Amino acid sequence: MPSIAVIPGDGIGTEVVASARAVLDALDSRHGLGLTYEEYDWSCRRYLDTGAMMPDDGLETLARHDAILLGAVGWPGVPDHVSLWGLLIPIRRAFRQYVNLRPIRVFDGVDSPLRYADQSVDFVVVRENVEGEYSEIGGRLNRGFPDEMAVQESVFTRAGVTRVVDYALDLAEERRGRLTSATKSNGIVHTMPFWDEVVAERTAKHPEVAWEQVHIDALAAKFVLDPASFDVVVASNLFGDILSDLAAAVAGSIGIAPSANLDPTRTRPSMFEPVHGSAPDIAGKGVANPVGAVWSCVLMLEHLGASEAAGELMRAVETVLADPATRTRDLGGTASTEQVTTRLVELVGG
Ligand code: NAI
Ligand code: MG
Repeated sequence: MPSIAVIPGDGIGTEVVASARAVLDALDSRHGLGLTYEEYDWSCRRYLDTGAMMPDDGLETLARHDAILLGAVGWPGVPDHVSLWGLLIPIRRAFRQYVNLRPIRVFDGVDSPLRYADQSVDFVVVRENVEGEYSEIGGRLNRGFPDEMAVQESVFTRAGVTRVVDYALDLAEERRGRLTSATKSNGIVHTMPFWDEVVAERTAKHPEVAWEQVHIDALAAKFVLDPASFDVVVASNLFGDILSDLAAAVAGSIGIAPSANLDPTRTRPSMFEPVHGSAPDIAGKGVANPVGAVWSCVLMLEHLGASEAAGELMRAVETVLADPATRTRDLGGTASTEQVTTRLVELVGG
């Protein structure tokens, strides 16, 4: 019986997770998945009450579960680096979730801001999730003086690059057999040529995957100009972070974008969360789009090996997006979170 740790978090995180739970329950009643849940109130609210986003033994508590479902954390009055480094980043690093997987699709019924982007846009960004540019190595000197300075080192390891590239190659093999690697070896002359070398080495072991490397600046332009040309894109932590938000925008709304923080070795729990944040501007109004959270549950079910249930849930997502009556405001519709949820429950539970 897979056991899921649920962290609704703040703002619309709690609303979209409630929606996802209702949909999962309906799906489970038919597929007999036997999912069990434990809910944790770790959030900025908790930080304001107790001074910590999660308890001291939070990571040990999570380690007992098979997967983690997270809404979003962040709230005005709590600096964003506190919510990020107090919860999300410790989970990603302690559980070695070295792959951040972000699928992008333009759905029937969803308008991309790009007039020529059609349903053939279907790709996945594989972001390195535990090293690279987001390192704690560095420091500041001469604070407050004219010669004040800051240094932050990027960390790229052979093991770290190899495992994320191998994951991307396996994924490309299952999909359409194409891999794009984001680089910047013309400007960043130590770490990026190293990244490129490891990519070349690993791709040599997968002759059936057609691959290319593209500089990150040109790649950003190509995401806008020709998004349908991509299959799997592999990138370092920073490049992948930026590319995946750009890709979510190309797909029409951040409200539908899902993500998975994976430990592909399955030694420790992986974490599934919508790409969007806690959206204080619409929190409590009942209008948040639950699709990003629900699609994240599709990724969770796939990871847990429930591929039939995952496929059914994905078809339900396609159906609600194609129907104007179940599109939320971010997609130009008028449906409430509850209306979308009710329809999804009907589709998967019926
Ligand atoms: P955001 O994603 O919360 O909101 C950006 C815009 O998109 C807002 O106008 C919002 O209303 C809209 N939006 C987002 N999700 C939506 C949904 N499901 N349905 C309809 N509209 C939606 O990003 P923002 O405003 O930069 O950040 C707000 C807070 O969330 C901050 O504290 C930030 O640190 C946190 N955050 C947390 C993340 C996480 O927990 N993984 C990720 C991104 C931001
Ligand atoms: Mg981001």
